[in-house]
Amino acid sequence: MKFFIDTADLDQIREAQALGILDGVTTNPSLMAKAGIRGAADVKAHYRRICDAVDGDVSAEVIATDCEGMIREGEALAALSDQIAVKVPLIKDGVKAIAHLAQQGIKTNCTLVFSAGQALLAAKAGASYVSPFIGRLDDISADGLQLIEEIRLIYDNCGYPTEILAASIRHPMHIVESAQLGADAITAPLHAILALLKHPLTDMGLKKFLSDYQKADD
Ligand code: E4P
Repeated sequence: MKFFIDTADLDQIREAQALGILDGVTTNPSLMAKAGIRGAADVKAHYRRICDAVDGDVSAEVIATDCEGMIREGEALAALSDQIAVKVPLIKDGVKAIAHLAQQGIKTNCTLVFSAGQALLAAKAGASYVSPFIGRLDDISADGLQLIEEIRLIYDNCGYPTEILAASIRHPMHIVESAQLGADAITAPLHAILALLKHPLTDMGLKKFLSDYQKADD
């Protein structure tokens, strides 16, 4: 399963890259704004910095909501680097734009996906990735992980190559359960990735090993 970090913060991206487990980065306009990046020129320059900082795919989101605008922005983003996957929202014009970009061989990430039907359309349009937002579904008392399960079944039944990228991850168990349910990738904030490391028995065991080593050395 691929691991993406869901941020535009370069320090966090570099920290995750240094772990040696990172397959890329996802961003969105809110994450860009949170990192203090505003305006088309700065956003593009920042995508270049992110691509330089990691080896894998970097999801870069379009702002336009009409098909022509999304295609124009998507082509410009894709021209920045082969690493760019153009992130397009699951709306009618977005589906058209994904189909067009996919036909040109441009990688796409269909975002803001909240239902199996939407995921079916994304795959049919030829999206490279589909991003079901599991945390935002949980936030409204729905079941985000169940959506991952439904999409996995549909894509396996129909033989769609679109990769399921579990997004809007809130905590480490979202990552573990996405893996159990057959997601191809997750994108998570750094704190959720780092939380996978933690177990009190690991800390206690290490402390004991080191103190026993010290005693044996005395
Ligand atoms: C990633 O592709 C999404 O934009 C992101 O995971 C959304 O996460 P949020 O629901 O925490 O904003």
